[in-house]
Amino acid sequence: MRILGIETSCDETGIAIYDGDRGLLAHALHSQIDIHRQYGGVIPELASRDHIRKITPLMHEALEQAHCDLASIDAIAYTAGPGLMGALLIGASFAKSLALALDKPSIAVHHMEAHLLAPLLEESAPTFPFLALIVSGGHTLLVHVKSLGDYDLLGQSIDDAAGEAFDKTAKILGLPYPGGPYLAKLAKAGDPKRFRFPRPMTDRPGLDFSFSGLKTFALNTFNQNPKDDKTKAAIARAFEDAVVDTMLIKCRRALEQTGLKCLVLAGGVAANEQLRASLGQFAQSKGIDLFYPAKEFCTDNGAMVALTGYLRFKAGFKDDDLTIFTKARWGL
Ligand code: KG4
Ligand code: ZN
Repeated sequence: MRILGIETSCDETGIAIYDGDRGLLAHALHSQIDIHRQYGGVIPELASRDHIRKITPLMHEALEQAHCDLASIDAIAYTAGPGLMGALLIGASFAKSLALALDKPSIAVHHMEAHLLAPLLEESAPTFPFLALIVSGGHTLLVHVKSLGDYDLLGQSIDDAAGEAFDKTAKILGLPYPGGPYLAKLAKAGDPKRFRFPRPMTDRPGLDFSFSGLKTFALNTFNQNPKDDKTKAAIARAFEDAVVDTMLIKCRRALEQTGLKCLVLAGGVAANEQLRASLGQFAQSKGIDLFYPAKEFCTDNGAMVALTGYLRFKAGFKDDDLTIFTKARWGL
């Protein structure tokens, strides 16, 4: 069984082909970062227009990479939400039209489910059940993944998402958009002892997160200190340490509560090396198996959508009709 996956929920156009026997055959990706950078954030209308321009050439690129044609595709999976409505509509309309033209089924995919299943693209893949920490630009979710489609939301951010906090703090430090990876790079040179930021919501029970206070803490620290490179690096380091430590504390708590022995890290912020190292050290000391996707499959991509479409289709899910279904806000 061969699935074409389409991702257009935000500022990446991704198209991939996943084969049930042979795994990922192709994935083509176009990032819009250069378009949005000058505005310091994603402009939804520009995102939609660029998806329209790139979606067909990317599909051909993926087919070429996979050495196959559309006739060999069994179903079309697409991100139906959550995300930017206009951007989602491009992918969904394209997928539905293609499905109609090819007389093949289409499969709506939840973007966050695709993120949490992305580690299954790797050769060494987790098996259900597991605890998933999904940390992206729009979401911070701690999920008990019991089996495909059976998810218990244990905790989430009550304000800024982890990636959003990285990006906003990076902006304060004068770094380009999207700031997460730039901040992480700067943090490497930062003195870890110069500043200490709070670990929000760790002094009380519960598994929810709050990151907006950290960004304010960074702003105040920035305003009260000299604006030299050393200070900026030390602020980046203190911020990153606080986010990573907070996530570690919540993961440890959730693993204790659920008794799970397997932890999965996913979403754009899962590319963060300090987060990977810190959770890796903890996992090793406690006999927990830790999995995360390759960096290119942490941030938005078509491969995770094709894989999720494949797993869902195999389990009997597909769209009932040709209605173009998209949901900008959509709980897991
Ligand atoms: O999953 P994703 O591509 O998009 C959403 O679905 O939101 O995540 C993008 C987020 C951005 O906020 C970006 O700054 C962050 O992931 N990010 C990182 C790193 N790489 C990407 N944050 C911290 N460290 C990184 N190395
Ligand atoms: Zn995403």
